[in-house]
Parts: sequence; C-alpha cells; structure tokens
Amino acid sequence: MDHTAGMTSARPTATTSVVARLRAAGCVFAEEEAELLLQAGGGALIDRRVAGEPLEHLLGCVSFAGLRVAVGPGVFVPRRRTELMARVAIGRSPAAFVELCCGVAAVTATVEASLPDVETWATDLDPVAVSFASRNIRGTAIAGDLDEALPPTLLGRVDVIACNAPYVPSAEVRHLPPEARDHEPLIALDGGSDGLDVIRRAAARAPRWLAPGGALLVEVSDAQVAAASAAMAAVGLRPDVQRDEMCTVLIAVSTAGFADAPGHLASS
Ligand SMILES: C[S@@+](CC[C@H](N)C(=O)[O-])C[C@H]1O[C@@H](n2cnc3c(N)ncnc32)[C@H](O)[C@@H]1O
Repeated sequence: MDHTAGMTSARPTATTSVVARLRAAGCVFAEEEAELLLQAGGGALIDRRVAGEPLEHLLGCVSFAGLRVAVGPGVFVPRRRTELMARVAIGRSPAAFVELCCGVAAVTATVEASLPDVETWATDLDPVAVSFASRNIRGTAIAGDLDEALPPTLLGRVDVIACNAPYVPSAEVRHLPPEARDHEPLIALDGGSDGLDVIRRAAARAPRWLAPGGALLVEVSDAQVAAASAAMAAVGLRPDVQRDEMCTVLIAVSTAGFADAPGHLASS
C-alpha cells in the first residue's frame, strides 16, 4: 500500500512557500513572480526580491510594448505607461528618431520594431543605462548630457525627439514606492523643484535638431501640463497633449524651418 498517496498536495511545495514569502513581503502578483523567479534560478534571487529589489532587475528584462527589453540593477525600469510615447512616435512615421534621457531605450526599441528603416540615436547621462540601451537597439546609443553627444549631421533633420526625462518634483521623490526610491538612480527620478528642470532644458535644445514639422515628445503629470506647455511655447514649439488611461504626453511641434530655429548652432 502507498502511504504517500494523496499527501503531496497537503504538504507545502517549494512554490507555495516562495509565494508565501513574496506575499508577506508585499508582492501583489506573488504567484506569477514565484514562477518567474524559480525559473530564473530561485535561491538568492528570491531573497533579493523579498528584500525589495525590483523583479525586472533580478530577471534582467522587462516587457515593453510586446518586446523583451534588457534591464538590470542600477537603471530605471521602463514603465508600461511610457508605451503611449512610443505609439505617438510611431504614428509620426519618423525617418530620423532621437531618444534623449533614453535609459535602456525601450521607446527606441519599440520604434525600431515598427519602422524597420528608421535611423535612431539614443543618449543618456548614465553610462550604465547606455550600455543596456546599446544591447536593446539597432541604432547608436551614446552617453552625454541631453543632446551634447549627438552628431551635427542630425541638425535640422530629426522628425521625432522622445524625451521621457525625470519629472518627479524633488519633494515628492520620498513618496515613491521603495522599489523606485531605493533601487533606481535619483538622477532618473528627480526632476527638480517642480519636476520640469530637465524637460525645460530639453525644450530649449530641441528646436535646432528638429526638421520642420518635427516634434519633441515629453511625458508629464497632468499637474505639469500647463507649465510644460509654456516652456515649449517659449522656444517656438507648438504644444499639444495626448492622453490614455495611464499617461500624459506633450507633443511640441516645430513650426520653424531650420534656419529660423531658436538657438540654431548656438550653445545653451
Ligand atoms: C525616468 S528615466 C526614463 C528612462 C527612459 N526614457 C524610459 O522611459 O525608460 C530618466 C532618464 O533620464 C536620464 N537623465 C537624467 N538627466 C539627464 C540629462 N541631463 N541628460 C541625459 N540623461 C539624463 C537618467 O539617467 C534616466 O535614465
């Protein structure tokens, strides 16, 4: 007679004990995470997840717009809400596309996946982010402050500049979830006193790169739309807003020809 028959389901399996640990640590999707972490090797990965590291840092990838994008410890994990920026960019069918503040360049990777012939450039201040970006895109990823590393051959001919810059007001960073606050670089989150410091600088620098009719895209909170729109208008860009249920994207269109662009060939 088999005395073990029927006992297995009553005894906690490895998976159920991992689920219980993850649930106790506050993981909402504990079952799914347990499965993924066990498939990825379990053990220390589970301990690190229980201690609060982002799941994507541990798995080494994130799903973005149906793509598998490489990420890792120390870099910003692309958020699903930013898929709106990628959709807006693709809708403008750019021949030349630039992503400023690219992080791991999930937006560029998505644009490339839809537009096989697009020329892409992605830049970020953080060399760790740039090394992930290089793995994720066909185009060129380079380190630098905003546009400083872009080649002059792009001047006046970029159809879309996407810039999902840090836009959390400094005083609100401490209210972010610990996964972001403790495991993503402050430079990826903190946008200055009203959250728009980097966005204002990007707006000031965008017109010289944009082709006539080209657009700068930035992600903002609804509370920032008026101030960010004013910053775009101040440099001669015509702002418009697109929203979905998760996100707000400001689309600032160049109405000037290259020779008229504010800041043409000047440094700012
Ligand atoms: C909110 S994260 C977004 C990353 C990426 N755009 C995305 O959506 O996943 C902001 C990124 O801006 C970069 N960054 C911050 N200040 C910058 C600057 N002055 N020049 C270039 N990159 C900057 C950070 O390193 C970080 O990767």
